[in-house]
Amino acid sequence: MDKRSFARKTGIAADVLMYLILLVQMLYVFTGNIIHEWLGIGFFLCLIVHIILKRKVISGMWKGGKKSAARRFSDIVTVLLFLCIIVLMLSSMGVSRLLFPWFKFMGSSDFRRYMATAVLTLAVVHGGMHGFIRTKKKKTAALLIAAGAAASIAIGLALVPYMNRHFRTVTVDRSQAVEGEKVEWSGSKPLVVYFTRVGNTDFEEDVDAVSGASLMLCDGELTGSNRLIAEMVSNALDCDMKPINVTGEKYPSSYGDTVSVAGKELRSNARPDIEHPDVSGYDSIILVYPIWWGTVPMPVATFLENTDLSGKHIYLIATQGSSGFVKSTADIREMAKGAEVTEVVSIYCDDIPTARQTIADKLKKYRDNQYYDRRLRST
Ligand SMILES: Cc1cc2nc3c(=O)[nH]c(=O)nc-3n(C[C@H](O)[C@H](O)[C@H](O)COP(=O)(O)O)c2cc1C
Repeated sequence: MDKRSFARKTGIAADVLMYLILLVQMLYVFTGNIIHEWLGIGFFLCLIVHIILKRKVISGMWKGGKKSAARRFSDIVTVLLFLCIIVLMLSSMGVSRLLFPWFKFMGSSDFRRYMATAVLTLAVVHGGMHGFIRTKKKKTAALLIAAGAAASIAIGLALVPYMNRHFRTVTVDRSQAVEGEKVEWSGSKPLVVYFTRVGNTDFEEDVDAVSGASLMLCDGELTGSNRLIAEMVSNALDCDMKPINVTGEKYPSSYGDTVSVAGKELRSNARPDIEHPDVSGYDSIILVYPIWWGTVPMPVATFLENTDLSGKHIYLIATQGSSGFVKSTADIREMAKGAEVTEVVSIYCDDIPTARQTIADKLKKYRDNQYYDRRLRST
């Protein structure tokens, strides 16, 4: 094999490898953190090989002269791709626990998912444009690039969050996750009320038997992720917490089956029976719940509609798989008659174990607003 053809083949191999590494990195629910971080190093090494092999093409990008529209577009995509890779690498280093524990930078996993999706998509367009410039079959090449880009966006924004929700079992050190800065809640006595899957689901005794579900093991004990958030709030505010538990049939252990049961409940506007948490004597309620089908789980609706919440202030903390608060705030305002309702924070499911400081910061902000509102009202 001559030198040029060797360089070309190595270049193609490094490019394909980079794309595959990024895909596997995004599906880290299957690899775990250690492999995920080492793959990041592998990606970086492939990038260096790519830059060395393509150094002439890269330096040609900055030369003047007449260029076709396709070549100009290709150059813009290349620059954007490079910038997105740099930001993604810095942000990934910023949350690394193994290789770069001393480096803290841009910690949001939502942000990293969007950047990884951008890199995946731009990489397809970047590779595709080389073929587009050379081939005579421009229409076919353009269609292939569009299809590849659409598939990359779907993988990053839909498939990856779906996999994370369905297949992830997270292991958490309870005291590390829950304990932290205290927040003094001025005036009213707060209570955390939460709904979580564990306690409301028919899980088998053996966690491994349900390891296909989205679960959290805190110090080896199966724990609902919303329960963990409730513990964080209770620790921050030094206050009581009470669960919303169904008294009738529990949800199935399979995540997918729970999704369909909850969908049926929503469509039939069901109000499952619950053990009603006693909220008398508390003025502020911090309501912690997962977003189910764009709103609150129906047992939370039972709680809101059948509890005297008038005159109370309900602060919302939702966990979600990508959608934010969606319709839940409007629905809660409708159901909790006579209560004031304020959104505090919606937490992406991947960020739950590390959400303690964000929650404390947001609670401080709303505590201060509350204080400020009261002063305004009294003047
Ligand atoms: C029945 C069901 C419906 C869900 N619907 C949504 C949704 O509409 N939007 C969303 O972002 N996440 C949705 N999710 C993901 C959950 O909000 C996410 O898994 C949860 O906040 C994390 O708590 P968990 O680990 O207890 O499931 C849904 C999850 C379940 C089980």
